[in-house]
Amino acid sequence: MPSTAARTRLRLAGALAAVLVAAGIVSGPAAQAHERPGHATPRTTLADLAQRHGRYFGSATDNPELTDAAYTKILGREFDMITPGNGMKWYATEPQQGVFDWTAGDEIVDLARGHHQRVRAHTLVWHSQLPDWLTGREWTADELRAVLKKHIQTEVRHYRGKVYSWDVVNEAFNEDGTYRDTVFYRTLGPGYIADALRWAHEADPRAKLYLNDYNIEAVGPKSDAYYALAKELKARHVPLDGIGLQAHLALQYGYPTTLQDNLRRFARLGLDTALTEVDVRMLLPATDEKLAQQADWYRDLTAACLAVRRCVGVTIWDFTDKYSWIPAVFPGEGAALPWDEQLAPKPAYRAIREALS
Ligand code: G3I
Repeated sequence: MPSTAARTRLRLAGALAAVLVAAGIVSGPAAQAHERPGHATPRTTLADLAQRHGRYFGSATDNPELTDAAYTKILGREFDMITPGNGMKWYATEPQQGVFDWTAGDEIVDLARGHHQRVRAHTLVWHSQLPDWLTGREWTADELRAVLKKHIQTEVRHYRGKVYSWDVVNEAFNEDGTYRDTVFYRTLGPGYIADALRWAHEADPRAKLYLNDYNIEAVGPKSDAYYALAKELKARHVPLDGIGLQAHLALQYGYPTTLQDNLRRFARLGLDTALTEVDVRMLLPATDEKLAQQADWYRDLTAACLAVRRCVGVTIWDFTDKYSWIPAVFPGEGAALPWDEQLAPKPAYRAIREALS
């Protein structure tokens, strides 16, 4: 029989081991049985850890990647919220006027449901990735209002009961906080945003409705514009539930140090917030130093969300550098996600786990 002191030491060692396993610093016995050399995967997932805080941890995905079995294995296990990166956008869902195609979106929703994952649906009203029939002609306000209402309500009805939330309007503001000059703003005026929210709410009263944008992580002119708009919409009882901060960050531009304050001011308006499209890109090549800094940013942004009431979760914009959008759009930049191109976890992955633990 061990002495009292020895029993205390054993208990402390056991507790320490449990903490290290939870933090992903070492793996539990069950995990070790499934590990491949060089790809040590801790047993608890990011989703498990986030759920302990009443949050989710999500990833975007896209249809072409779903044939990659090693990829879908991680996607299905590590996350509890999924966003289709393209499959629910207007060009994909209404390729001809009045002709709807749910193939891409349904594939991702079905896959998510099969893994007991929820879906952040993205996006109903956006100036980009619109079908040619919409961009290729002029519309009167009455015509465009009818087109917009039909698109929103048909899509939201199709996914009613199957998605957690909708990014109803995406990227509505310029950097200086003025309205972005889109076909919707030009033709319908700023009221298109409240209309879109009301139409979406009619079609699925239970879905959480978001406005979503990039470069609104810090307090500044663009996030101020969202704050003012959100306040006004709430005062008018327009059905707005949350603000999505995309958080496409870049090491060379600095960390948005006012993120937590910013999240908090939206919470005070009675709104949810979420980090919806996180990635942290860098100038290539990736060095150990840059990867360590990237890890710090992932840790800090995860901690910021946990620290603020009503920040409901974090979604990364896909999880592996293999399928990141960055290199195609920012030549010479990349390595933005927590898993590398070989699907091996990077320091950022450990850092997220530490924040969630
Ligand atoms: O569908 C065509 C395909 O037929 C063609 O063979 C291929 C060749 O390049 O292109 C395919 O279209 C691409 C599309 O994704 C679908 O894969 C476009 O070129 C490509 O530009 C497009 O990029 C998407 C981008 O939005 C468009 O702005 C990214 O995958 C998607 O991740 C990205 O997501 C946006 C969010 O919706 C909003 N916030 C910013 C974020 C990053 O841009």
